[in-house]
Amino acid sequence: MKTLIINGSPRKNGDTTSLIEVFVNHLDGEYKIIDTYYCNIGPCIDCRYCWKNEGCSSKDGWTELHTYILECDNVVIASPIYFSELTGELLSKMSKLQAYWAARFYRKEEIIKKKKKGGIILVGGNDGSNEIPTETAKCLLDHMNANDIFDVVCSHNTDVVAAIDDEEAVGGAKKLADFFNEVTA
Ligand SMILES: Cc1cc2nc3c(=O)[nH]c(=O)nc-3n(C[C@H](O)[C@H](O)[C@H](O)COP(=O)(O)O)c2cc1C
Repeated sequence: MKTLIINGSPRKNGDTTSLIEVFVNHLDGEYKIIDTYYCNIGPCIDCRYCWKNEGCSSKDGWTELHTYILECDNVVIASPIYFSELTGELLSKMSKLQAYWAARFYRKEEIIKKKKKGGIILVGGNDGSNEIPTETAKCLLDHMNANDIFDVVCSHNTDVVAAIDDEEAVGGAKKLADFFNEVTA
């Protein structure tokens, strides 16, 4: 079983990372973490190469990530909430998913044939709604053919209580791993 985790946090020992660590410590199989702030992937520049051609015109770290997206069984979007959204860096990198949409819409090709399970991990400094980043994360997961999505794991109020000390969020991260592990049980 292969799991892809897309981390939208710039903080290497922050709240998102701490929940990812809990999650992977309970996860079977192999996994790959993409740190969106520190990876070599540029944004989609709407060059429209993918309207007529397979793949993306820019040959950066996306090529390797694309291979993993093709073969993985599960995808997790994990991000702090910035301005009631996923972080800009995560959205910038994931804008390259547009090539899959363009393949379907313009070229009538399904690039990601394998159906996947999905997960969403969010952290926020206050107790505002997580509705917008949840919907955005679901949209990104849909682009990767991950539509069997587990309950959102969310730690609010991290300004007061770190995510790692939020029992409900830590429990949720473990349950998300169990949900993915069911396939191998
Ligand atoms: C630019 C910026 C915008 C933020 N916007 C929000 C927000 O809209 N809602 C919220 O609950 N927290 C917001 N926060 C707080 C972070 O989500 C919070 O500190 C989070 O725990 C950081 O996660 P990390 O340690 O994984 O990076 C914001 C933080 C920054 C730096």
